Amino acid sequence: MQRWSGLGRRLSQLAACPSEVVRPYQEVPGPRPLPIIGNTWRFLPVVGDIEVSDVAAVSQKLYDVYGKIVRLSGLTGRPDLVFVFDPDEAEKVYRAEGDTPYRPSMPCIVKYKTEVRKEFFGELPGVIGVHGEPWRTFRTRVQKPILQPRVVKQYIAPIQTVTELFIERMLEMKDENDEMPDDFDNEVHKWSLECIGRIALDVRLGCLDRNLPNNSEPQKIIDAAKFALRKIAILELKAPYWRYFPTTTWRKYIENMDYFRSVCMKYIQMALENLKKKDNKQELSLLERILETEKDPKIACILALDLILVGIDTISMAVCSVLYQLATRPEEQQKMHEELVRIMPDPNCQLTSEMLDKMVYLKSFIKEVLRMYSTVIGIGRVLQEDTVLCGYRIPSGTQLVFPSIVMGSIEGYVSEPHRFLPERWMKCDRDNHYIHPFASLPYGFGARMCLGRRFADLEMQILLAKLIRTYRIEYFHEPLEYKVTFMYAPDGNLKLKMSKRKE
Ligand code: HEM
Repeated sequence: MQRWSGLGRRLSQLAACPSEVVRPYQEVPGPRPLPIIGNTWRFLPVVGDIEVSDVAAVSQKLYDVYGKIVRLSGLTGRPDLVFVFDPDEAEKVYRAEGDTPYRPSMPCIVKYKTEVRKEFFGELPGVIGVHGEPWRTFRTRVQKPILQPRVVKQYIAPIQTVTELFIERMLEMKDENDEMPDDFDNEVHKWSLECIGRIALDVRLGCLDRNLPNNSEPQKIIDAAKFALRKIAILELKAPYWRYFPTTTWRKYIENMDYFRSVCMKYIQMALENLKKKDNKQELSLLERILETEKDPKIACILALDLILVGIDTISMAVCSVLYQLATRPEEQQKMHEELVRIMPDPNCQLTSEMLDKMVYLKSFIKEVLRMYSTVIGIGRVLQEDTVLCGYRIPSGTQLVFPSIVMGSIEGYVSEPHRFLPERWMKCDRDNHYIHPFASLPYGFGARMCLGRRFADLEMQILLAKLIRTYRIEYFHEPLEYKVTFMYAPDGNLKLKMSKRKE
């Protein structure tokens, strides 16, 4: 089962959870809930000791204090959370989860799909917030084209066009010190919206255009995406009163989702018309492939909506994180630049899949950022049968969390875990550095693994290749702290300095 080096394996066995005696669930260590008020108070402002934004630090603290398995019980209105910090145990759970893994999901989306707009979503409401057979049927029907390398490659040129436009915008945005504006992360969001529009809806939404009027469609899409980013975390983590009565934020959320849905439906109708006129059915886009095989265009609309819902923040936050790390690591940036000069002697060349295949250091750099600063802080699963984990019998129905942000840096599973070392992912260095294959899973694992991962990788690779081949980016302000809003990313103004390289 182990595919990593002998040394790493030995270390892991030394550190393994004791498994000879199976102990009852009640004995799983963790902070003790107070009578009646349980553990929820810990998340309350003023009296509590856990801020949502500190969740990553808290996960680390739970591991340091209680060890490889920790139970957080007594959370009002929700089941216990069991944190598992052991890649071997994570592997065991993933491999046993069958073909309908259950990932606890955003309750806002579940309510929107299954109650508020039930007539629209019907029997096959997509993949986000959906479980069991309806999830499996939907995913099986759409996943082949999304994950097919041949289809993904078709998007190199369109994403490159969007990215070149974004870099032009960066040049226009620079201030007198050649630095990006305080709200640079918003601009990254617009780039990711434009990319996802091209992938899921076959259109250029126009989000990167200058001086957008307030009532223009791209501006409304940007506002809706911004709302989603800022407010969903509040709805889901801080103020769940909307579950009981329609709060203002909840009503705005529904308006927002309805707006996204109408935009998706509009462009899918257009794509359908274009498809009817198309003679060459060989080179179909992702959307056209779905429309060609599915009788009901609603399937394409629901898929587009799901991809938009999870494909904007994840990628934008990952990009902010990668850019910040590059800007603060000049040596590594130089190595990336040298690799790019070799592969792209002409900085203005059109990227090809062969060129991207050769960008080994660039890809390793992204992997290392995702290991040390995992954008998605943890992966959740609901156990579907009683399972022994770390020597405790965990009952079916328990919500497990595998905190990626901690697991990627546990001594014994990863060598020199606190060193930023892109080389650890490169074949040439495998003998010197080991990493347990389940220690860093930025896109999750198994049947429920990230559906957009190939596009996410492609978008990040194209952006870095185009940017770092020609420009140097630096950061000269106070170090930024990483925090969790919904994703884990540097918190504060990303005032990157951008200057043209000589070569
Ligand atoms: C760097 C960026 C991204 C990261 C780190 C990321 C990470 C993840 C993770 C950890 C999951 C859960 C996997 C599991 O439960 O095993 C997930 C699910 C998902 N992701 Fe991503 N993702 C990223 C970008 C994207 C993009 C760009 C898209 C869309 C184009 C996307 C679409 C999805 C979808 C649809 C799911 C749900 C899959 C399902 O439940 O069947 N993701 N992602």
